[in-house]
Amino acid sequence: MSSWLEGDVALVTGGGSGIGRAVAERFVAEGASVTVVDRDAPRLRAVVEESVDPTRMLAVEADVRDSQALHRAVADTVDRFGKLDTLVTNAGLWDYQRPVTRLDGVQLGNLFDELFAVNVKGYLLAVEAAWRELVRTRGNVVMTLSNASTYVAGGGPVYTASKHACLGLMKQLAYELAPRVRVNGVAVGGMNTDLRGPASLGMAERSIAASFAKRTADTPPPPIPLHDSSTDPRDVTGSYVLLASRRQAGTITGHAIAADGGIGVRGFATAAGGDDLGAQL
Ligand SMILES: NC(=O)c1ccc[n+]([C@@H]2O[C@H](COP(=O)([O-])OP(=O)(O)OC[C@H]3O[C@@H](n4cnc5c(N)ncnc54)[C@H](O)[C@@H]3O)[C@@H](O)[C@H]2O)c1
Repeated sequence: MSSWLEGDVALVTGGGSGIGRAVAERFVAEGASVTVVDRDAPRLRAVVEESVDPTRMLAVEADVRDSQALHRAVADTVDRFGKLDTLVTNAGLWDYQRPVTRLDGVQLGNLFDELFAVNVKGYLLAVEAAWRELVRTRGNVVMTLSNASTYVAGGGPVYTASKHACLGLMKQLAYELAPRVRVNGVAVGGMNTDLRGPASLGMAERSIAASFAKRTADTPPPPIPLHDSSTDPRDVTGSYVLLASRRQAGTITGHAIAADGGIGVRGFATAAGGDDLGAQL
């Protein structure tokens, strides 16, 4: 049997690192050609240079808040590879779980504007830039969603709201673009990546991987049935391949696969001893 994405063309935002890079590499392994879009040029260069097939990768430096730059990325993709089958919206920032009680109004406002501009507007503008090409190919969108698209405590109020907003965006766009373009999501859980914080709070150089390591040493991480936060982003790429594949997922739209290690079934188990508090009630 041929690979699931043989001959397809994809564009991945935030493709320079973490989940986006892992998805781009997996798509190439599945037979696709891939444009990686990121605001970090050195990372983009590394992704292409280290690819198993650099001829099937294109790097475009762009900020996902910039509609014109996204249109240019789509045009460059079509120039180079002839079409676009799949858009993966993925570039994002975390809020390092800053609660409302630890920020003043000015900080909160700046945090909201920065996080929503990247995490939500960046997804919407990428779809706007790509939908015409996706209609031509009867293509699809796969959005990186999060445990924070459904549950609390995966971030502070601003990150959680932004990821809930992305879930709504996914459903609304699935409705608007049907029957020509499918729109789905992969809700990943804690991943060992270089996910950064907002510059407005001086957190642009902080990395979630370091934060996970510190939390493991200081306090136990929250219980996740299938894995801990050291999970490699390559472990979640199968869900993206499935949803991107016309042959395998042609009847699926407006759906989020929870690839989060089973957060939804953890019940009342505690981090410390795995006690089932529910049984004691
Ligand atoms: N790492 C986790 O634990 C986790 C959990 C749930 C969801 N997510 C989501 O996964 C997605 C990918 O994050 P990651 O963990 O791979 O982080 P990452 O930092 O390793 O990768 C994100 C990439 O996006 C790029 N980027 C950030 N802002 C950008 C902008 N304005 N324009 C263009 N590129 C930009 C960064 O340069 C980086 O290369 C994010 O949407 C994040 O919210 C991550």
